[in-house]
Amino acid sequence: MRLLTLFATFTSLFSSLVGLTQEQYERYQRDGYLVIENFVSEENCDQLKQRALEIVSEQGPNAALEMFSTTKQGRPSDKFFLDSAVGTVLFFEPKAFDQTGRLQVDLLRAINKIGHGMHDTDPVFNEFSRLPQIKQLVTDLGIHNPLLMQAMYIFKQPRIGGEVTCHQDGTFLYAEPDTMIGLWFAIEDATLENGCLWVIPGGHVAPLKSRFKKSLEGGTYFEVYDTTPWDLSKRIPLEVKKGGLVILHSRVPHMSECNLSDKSRHAYTIHLIDATSDYPADNWLQRPENMPARGF
Ligand code: FE2
Repeated sequence: MRLLTLFATFTSLFSSLVGLTQEQYERYQRDGYLVIENFVSEENCDQLKQRALEIVSEQGPNAALEMFSTTKQGRPSDKFFLDSAVGTVLFFEPKAFDQTGRLQVDLLRAINKIGHGMHDTDPVFNEFSRLPQIKQLVTDLGIHNPLLMQAMYIFKQPRIGGEVTCHQDGTFLYAEPDTMIGLWFAIEDATLENGCLWVIPGGHVAPLKSRFKKSLEGGTYFEVYDTTPWDLSKRIPLEVKKGGLVILHSRVPHMSECNLSDKSRHAYTIHLIDATSDYPADNWLQRPENMPARGF
């Protein structure tokens, strides 16, 4: 019995450390994204979800009512957004408020996302973000000096979870050369009904259309290089089960629709770069000297 248990432990450890196959790596290079089912355990997902909900319960009653939306009206103030780089900060869902600005849903249903530094400041998020299979994957993707720059826990709330318009993540985290990758973990099943990701396969071969920059005055702005609309006829949905991972190239266009269903669609994202890349000082996300970004 003991031998059997040992064998099971060994095989589960081994399977969790098996990295990308050559075929997967080539598919990622070709398409700009890759889906890997069952990448993290259901237990890992449940622990992260539990911690996210605890953070909302703990901080929510005293949180600033700053909203997050990719449409102009729901955008948070510059200072609030910039300060969230190293924080565990709550962003509210714009549709959680009524016309007079009062919350019209329960607090746990009112948050759009938590960001952007809890992978370094919160023990549960730190542990999830640095799981051994993630480290192995990042190495297999050719990132040998990884820096975990940003984390987001996204709730995509039932009925009110807003649309995220089509974008490239490199717009928000630019590195030169372009080593940035996004890791998107399905903490709950992501379906067409509850607002799964959509991507434009192969769209990463085109350059960045814009960059979101920090201004010298301490504000933020978009520097736009290409105003051509995305060809959304080429997009495909990525329905991913709980525990699945989507790897996103920094320039692959992706988006998600509103969640009009009764089910939330929790997801967790990490964005990494290779430390050998230049990380410009005009990226919106800047770490203070006493809290530099770190790897695994
Ligand atoms: Fe994104």
